[in-house]
Amino acid sequence: MRKKIVAGNWKMNLLKDDAIRFAEELNQGLFSTDNRTTDVFVFPGFTLLEAARQNAEYFKIGAQNFYPKQSGAFTGEVSIEQLKDLNLDVVIIGHSERRILFNESNQFIQEKLFSALDNDFTPILCIGETLDVRNNGHHFSFISEQLAAALNAFNAHQLEKLILAYEPVWAIGTGITASTEQAEEMHCHIRSWLTNNFSLELAEKISILYGGSCNEMNAKELFSCPNVDGGLIGGASLNAKQFLSIINIMNGLF
Ligand code: PGA
Repeated sequence: MRKKIVAGNWKMNLLKDDAIRFAEELNQGLFSTDNRTTDVFVFPGFTLLEAARQNAEYFKIGAQNFYPKQSGAFTGEVSIEQLKDLNLDVVIIGHSERRILFNESNQFIQEKLFSALDNDFTPILCIGETLDVRNNGHHFSFISEQLAAALNAFNAHQLEKLILAYEPVWAIGTGITASTEQAEEMHCHIRSWLTNNFSLELAEKISILYGGSCNEMNAKELFSCPNVDGGLIGGASLNAKQFLSIINIMNGLF
């Protein structure tokens, strides 16, 4: 049985007091709804990590980014060791904002995956096509290429902790969500790719989240898709009540 996951990516938003208030509200909500079936992750910015982690009781805090070198002269960067030092063990890798705005290449993303897996972290690897790619009908091959570029250096055993997030770039922060058909057919494609390149066993184990303008209005239909195992939520994760509603939708369904 694959894990059901709802994860919140705060991006470069909120301050320390907001993080503490959010944690208190979410703890209370998760406690009173007796959340058992959904794993909940929240990814705050670096400066909020410690406050959020100290206050998170019924959910897990992870980091949005890190630099894949152990230590050294990398001004402004944060290593996985430093994240470990905060008792963290989940990271997002390959988010389209990092790929596009910060020029993170496929090779660099693979290096980050190595570093994360080597250090026993759970990576959430994001993949997703731009609108151009979709309009040209190349979205399936594009996603296969992104998967191959990130994962071709690993074996099935090394990837057991991996979580994937399909986040079409045209849906992120735009208010346009993939339809259930678009989400389900791409999640199926990703799972077949995993079966063909690794094993059916691994493909059946890896949770594939949907991300891109997912909110309390559309979560129910997206999460009802058999191959959608949860969501990576941006904007709608900034408010504890809204985020909790999305988690509760997942809990109600499974
Ligand atoms: P969004 O962001 O929910 O605000 O579209 C999702 C993401 O980028 O992870």
